[in-house]
Amino acid sequence: MKFFIDTANLAQIKEAQELGVLDGVTTNPSLMAKEGITGKDNILKHYVDICNLVDGDVSAEVIATDFEGMIREGEELAELHPQIVVKLPLIKDGIKACKYFTDKGIKTNVTLVFSAGQALLAAKAGATYVSPFIGRLDDISTDGLNLIQEIREIYDNYGYETEILAASVRHTMHIVNCAKIGADVITGPLSAIAGLLKHPLTDLGLAQFLADYQKGNQ
Ligand code: E4P
Repeated sequence: MKFFIDTANLAQIKEAQELGVLDGVTTNPSLMAKEGITGKDNILKHYVDICNLVDGDVSAEVIATDFEGMIREGEELAELHPQIVVKLPLIKDGIKACKYFTDKGIKTNVTLVFSAGQALLAAKAGATYVSPFIGRLDDISTDGLNLIQEIREIYDNYGYETEILAASVRHTMHIVNCAKIGADVITGPLSAIAGLLKHPLTDLGLAQFLADYQKGNQ
């Protein structure tokens, strides 16, 4: 399973990269705004800075909601760096744009997916990644992991190569459960990824090993 970090924060991206387990980055307009990245030139430069920090795919989202605008923006984003993946919302023109970019060999991430039917459309349009938002479904008392399971079953039935990118991951158990179901990728905050390190028995065991070593080597 691939690990993507869901942030536009360069320090956090660097920390995850240095851990050695990072496969890519996802961003969205809210995450860019949170880092105070505004204005077209600054936004484009920030995407390049992110690409230069990591080895994998970097999703950059279009703002346009009409087909022509998405194509214009997506082409500009794709030209920035070979690691850029054009992120498109799952709306009618987003699906049309996804097919357009697929035919041109440009990678896509279809985002804001909340149903199995939407994920089926994204696969048929040839999306590289489909992003079901599991945390936001959990927020409204709907089982986000169940959606991942449904999409896995549908994609396996037909051999669709679109990768299931479980998004809106909030904590470590989302990651573990996505791995059990067979999501291809998760994207979440650094806290969820780093949280996988934690176990009190590891800390206790290490303290004991070090104490025993000290006793015999004074
Ligand atoms: C997906 O790529 C989105 O950026 C993201 O995962 C949304 O997560 P949130 O629901 O925590 O905002």
